[in-house]
Amino acid sequence: MSRFLILFGVVASSVIGAGAVAASEFEQTLIAKGSALARSVCAPCHVVSSGQPSEPLLKNPGPSFDQIANSGAVDADGLRVFLASPHADMGPHARMANPRLADYQIERLVAYIMSLRRAR
Ligand code: HEC
Repeated sequence: MSRFLILFGVVASSVIGAGAVAASEFEQTLIAKGSALARSVCAPCHVVSSGQPSEPLLKNPGPSFDQIANSGAVDADGLRVFLASPHADMGPHARMANPRLADYQIERLVAYIMSLRRAR
């Protein structure tokens, strides 16, 4: 009986361990895809990463993604809501078209931006 319990424990913990590895690989893929999407769709107006090859084109660029991630005011749910609508705070003469991001694209971008958050 006790041998069975030990065996069960070993099997259960290796299954749980494998699950954790898979989850983090999934997260890494999500972040990498979010980073690629940000570089193509958001980089014209934001500094999306420190190694960004070109400056944003906008005269008054948006905050950098590093600033957004570390502002303390932003969390993943807030970002999801924000990214599901057009940027509303750009002023009456500078509306950004609704990027009409798909849910999976929003998830990638949120994963990428939140990955820029530094431990506090
Ligand atoms: C046409 C230029 C433009 C594009 C393209 C753009 N942004 Fe922005 N973004 C801005 C400006 C300007 C602001 C600041 C004003 C505002 O909050 O609306 C901003 C603000 C934000 C904020 C809010 C920051 C805060 O502190 O509240 C987030 C989040 C954001 N952008 C994410 C994105 C993401 C993700 C993309 C790509 C899908 C993107 N933006 C594409 C110009 C742009």
